[in-house]
Amino acid sequence: MSQQLLLVGNWKSYITSTEGAIHLVKTLDKKLPKKLKSKIVLVPAAPLVALVRYVYGGKRMSVGMQDVTQHEEGASTGSVTAAGVVGSGATYCIVGHSERRKDGETNVDVARKIRLLLDAKVTPIVCIGELERDRDGNFYNILEHDVAECLARILPQEVSKVVIAYEPVWAIGASAAPASRVVSEALVFIRKTIASQFGREIALKMKMLYGGSVSPSNAHELLHLGHVNGFLIGRASADADQFIGIIKACQ
Ligand code: PGA
Repeated sequence: MSQQLLLVGNWKSYITSTEGAIHLVKTLDKKLPKKLKSKIVLVPAAPLVALVRYVYGGKRMSVGMQDVTQHEEGASTGSVTAAGVVGSGATYCIVGHSERRKDGETNVDVARKIRLLLDAKVTPIVCIGELERDRDGNFYNILEHDVAECLARILPQEVSKVVIAYEPVWAIGASAAPASRVVSEALVFIRKTIASQFGREIALKMKMLYGGSVSPSNAHELLHLGHVNGFLIGRASADADQFIGIIKACQ
């Protein structure tokens, strides 16, 4: 399993102005620990990605995009294509976020997007997570089904180039994250599902993040007891002190 942690800050639409984005990135840069143990990826809203990338220069933090269209470049008004992601300077891209899925994005769309991103040499961060938990454990079937459909278009040798983010929808924007045991059980299950599709050795190489109400106060425990390779962070990543707090908890 690769060791460097991946901390992805999904700014969603919390930061919408040029000034706000520049202020946040500069404040983070000033406060970052000298010897960083994690790889940091900032994911602003689409109109701010190129700005953040070029103002900051991507020296210690990489930049990502929040979504990509499944359409090819050219006649696609209003979309960010895979070529557009590359052109913006982003090297990561979130796909399948529940806030996109609720507008109709399907696993089939996600699988297409992953293919386009891999072809463009951009790392996809694929969000997977059940809407709610049920006593009978049916959510495990949902996870299994989502993993299989989302990864349907990738080759075994590409699995290590894809990042999975387990984001139980009920924990996003919630008042607290689930217990570390809940996170760790889900991640083990997802890894087993990937192993049955691609083989154990390949599954062990996959980076798996947790996302949903990660904060400076729960990051350390989730990291150690949840067996995660990093986090996908929403609200807290749009606040410099909170995000730095999470980065420090992972040092
Ligand atoms: P949250 O969002 O950290 O605000 O819960 C996580 C996410 O949606 O990726």
